[in-house]
Amino acid sequence: MSDWKVLLADRIADAGKQILLDHAQVDDCPEISAEELHRDIGHYDAMVVRSRTQVTEALLKRAGRMKVVGRMGVGVDNIDLDAARSAGITVVNSPNATTIAVAELTMALMLDLARKTPRADGSMKKGHWDKKTLRGTELFGKTLGIIGIGRIGRAVAKRASGFGMRILGYDAFLTPDRVRENGAEPVSLDALYRKSDYISLHVPLTGVTRSMISAQTLERMKDGVHIVCAARGGVIDEAALLEALESGKVAGAGLDVFEVEPPGASPLVSHPRVITTPHIGAQTEEAQDRAAVDIATEILRALEGQELRWRVA
Ligand code: 3PG
Repeated sequence: MSDWKVLLADRIADAGKQILLDHAQVDDCPEISAEELHRDIGHYDAMVVRSRTQVTEALLKRAGRMKVVGRMGVGVDNIDLDAARSAGITVVNSPNATTIAVAELTMALMLDLARKTPRADGSMKKGHWDKKTLRGTELFGKTLGIIGIGRIGRAVAKRASGFGMRILGYDAFLTPDRVRENGAEPVSLDALYRKSDYISLHVPLTGVTRSMISAQTLERMKDGVHIVCAARGGVIDEAALLEALESGKVAGAGLDVFEVEPPGASPLVSHPRVITTPHIGAQTEEAQDRAAVDIATEILRALEGQELRWRVA
């Protein structure tokens, strides 16, 4: 056993925890507060986080021993990558582990919007038999616009094709040929907005994607569009979405992520044509096991100075 000390600052599945325990001293603190983290960070060579923990410049400045931060999952918008680079701290993630889980949740949200299943279940639980008011629509024959057609977008395209949807794809970083290879007809963002019955976002939160779904972009969409987002909350301007729901421009939305999490008493959460879930995109047994093993092995590689598979900084 080496002298490495690893902090698990968020919840990590046992499969990954055990790998780290075999090689290092591990403190498992999934509920650690920001204050405690600031107080104790200086003791650790490595840290595992998910989206809950904010890895700020101020925190990294206190992390004198830190060699690597592992993001169990994909999104690194909670980590100050520039500050990590300046401090010489490596950042790794586990980008493959949660693809299927997020793609399946996206399909679930689309199906729930089309068939109103959450409402049907709620009314059954109240003892009602509201068959007449629960007429839905089919995904079959509808057009799905996928914004960001990388790993997750591609997995969504594959599944939605199986439902007989026409798939349009836009990706700021991929050539039209790559978009096609990933299972979608390549289109401009404007064409995607104009032609899609469903729009699903699979982009990270960056300066460019923040509020990309705004009053202006909503205006360009088809009347009665459905919007699904299991990516990052900030990519949708929630006030604009609410207004578009109220005007009828947007028929429904399925949201797993929010500008502020948890969103509290948000009018979007209580809106009758919005289906929400508490950022559970990656929250399956299989994805969590995969992500835990991937991040644990990647952290050990970083500590041992081996070649990295998923370095983000
Ligand atoms: C991700 O970026 O990997 C997902 O949004 C999951 O985030 P979580 O690990 O905090 O659930």
